[in-house]
Amino acid sequence: MAVALRAEGLSKRFGGLKAVDNVILELEEGRILGLIGPNGAGKSTCFSMLAGSTPPTAGRVFLGPEEITGLPAFRAARAGVVRTHQIVRPFANLTIFENAIVAAVQCSGLDRAGARSLAREVLDFVGLGPRRHEYPGGLTLAGRKRLEMARALACAPRVLLLDEVIAGVNPAEAQEMVTLILRIRDERKVSIIMTEHVMAAVMRLCERVVVLDAGKLIAAGEPRQIVQDPKVIEAYLGKKHA
Ligand SMILES: Nc1ncnc2c1ncn2[C@@H]1O[C@H](COP(=O)(O)OP(=O)(O)OP(=O)(O)O)[C@@H](O)[C@H]1O
Ligand SMILES: [Mg+2]
Repeated sequence: MAVALRAEGLSKRFGGLKAVDNVILELEEGRILGLIGPNGAGKSTCFSMLAGSTPPTAGRVFLGPEEITGLPAFRAARAGVVRTHQIVRPFANLTIFENAIVAAVQCSGLDRAGARSLAREVLDFVGLGPRRHEYPGGLTLAGRKRLEMARALACAPRVLLLDEVIAGVNPAEAQEMVTLILRIRDERKVSIIMTEHVMAAVMRLCERVVVLDAGKLIAAGEPRQIVQDPKVIEAYLGKKHA
């Protein structure tokens, strides 16, 4: 199967802290890869390096055959890798529609009319179409996460990095989010890496999971095996539970 995104030796230092330490990731086309691990494991930092929000200290990133290591975020987005942010910060003084238009203009370089029509389409896709003339401040957390996903989709990604889009929402919304993620993969032909603390969603969505702890890759495999791996249980719960 073709590889959509690959990272090798991915590392990030913040002063003396090795936030990400020599991590290998491989996302196959049309798949959903889970990137899990306890708080502070380095998941979001990996996403930052894959999507160009921060350059790696070491390592290389490939989108298909093309090396994209260290490209700034807007160029990584135009190449086809886009992330969502764990803490969503839409422009509060712009409507939901305008927020999506800004993303479409920035990423795709479309003209005004093209950006408007793409923005409308992605908002319809995530279910925010009827609310597009409202302001994001009126949305629930799940709604703001949908807007964040719409903004990412307005970049027409080939690879989408979803940073905790389910954690914190209620069970009904979580179920809808699972369905939305599957539709993004199947209807838009997007390959996905997702970080998530909600294990039920990871089990449901991911064919493969990579586990980080303190910046290091400690396990990789099928979700069903991963949740029984003593190293993984220890990373989440401490040694006495393993
Ligand atoms: N800009 C930064 N400067 C300094 N340290 C940072 C920076 N960003 C992250 N870190 C540190 O790097 C480590 C990894 O953080 P990261 O946010 O990647 O973890 P995470 O796995 O996404 O955690 P969570 O599940 O809580 O979102 C943490 O120790 C964090 O404090
Ligand atoms: Mg994080």
